[in-house]
Amino acid sequence: MMTRQAERIIKTTEVTEGAGVTVHRSIGTPALRNLDPFVMLDHFGSDNPDEYIAGFPEHPHRGFNTFTYMLDGNMEHRDSMGNTGNLTAGSAQWMKAGSGVIHSEMPKQVDGLMRGFQLWINLPAKAKMTEPTYQEYSPEAFPVHEAEGQKVKVLLGRYKGVEGPIKDPYTEVSYFDVELNLGHDFDYDMSSDLTAFVYLFEGDAVIGGTDIVEHSFVVLSKGDNLVIKAKSESVRFILVAGRPIGEPIVQHGPFVMNSQDEIHQAMADYRDDKLVQQKAEMINA
Ligand code: FE2
Repeated sequence: MMTRQAERIIKTTEVTEGAGVTVHRSIGTPALRNLDPFVMLDHFGSDNPDEYIAGFPEHPHRGFNTFTYMLDGNMEHRDSMGNTGNLTAGSAQWMKAGSGVIHSEMPKQVDGLMRGFQLWINLPAKAKMTEPTYQEYSPEAFPVHEAEGQKVKVLLGRYKGVEGPIKDPYTEVSYFDVELNLGHDFDYDMSSDLTAFVYLFEGDAVIGGTDIVEHSFVVLSKGDNLVIKAKSESVRFILVAGRPIGEPIVQHGPFVMNSQDEIHQAMADYRDDKLVQQKAEMINA
């Protein structure tokens, strides 16, 4: 048995997105362009009521999936497929942008709080130009595995027999939200060939043999077992794993394709109003 270690620890970079929203980006920065099959991870959050009111007005995507998980606050979603949704605290959304989606994402604070993650999961070449889909999951949709000093919410994948509701047919993504109390370990056997990372967003912990402080993004080495120990009274992190696609990745802003030519095509399609096949009425928030 080989235990996974903290192979790389990345300090997140503040990036201004949308209409002036600050996000803490880890994957998708010069320090870590991508982590096959993942192409971007943003952690957004605020307890300042004056922040984040502008949100992310209408913008396009092509060639990958977005998975958004709200910890606190709400997020209003509207897209070119005609979907409207309101993600509440604890809920999530899986959107396959496929050949093209235009959408708006408008976070709203609740009791002065707004916090969440958005992960971009790449699609293989054969699925990049498929029809877009959108699915929303309420907090109750996600099972929680509870043990002494430990709570594991399963959004995707399987943890000790508990299975999440979202199926990812291409990259077999696992996504757990783990709460751990001091004196307890998170001990998990996982497939050794999966890419995996941890984002520690509350408290300090030890991963393998390395001390990790709050707000660290940690790329895990290959291995078939993972042990995380709490170093603070309470610790909270997401553990995400997925199967690498192994194809060339060419990204330009909201488009993730296999070649520069396909990026130029995406930009031309967007400019010529051809990115979206049948555009439903979008009502701006
Ligand atoms: Fe978006």
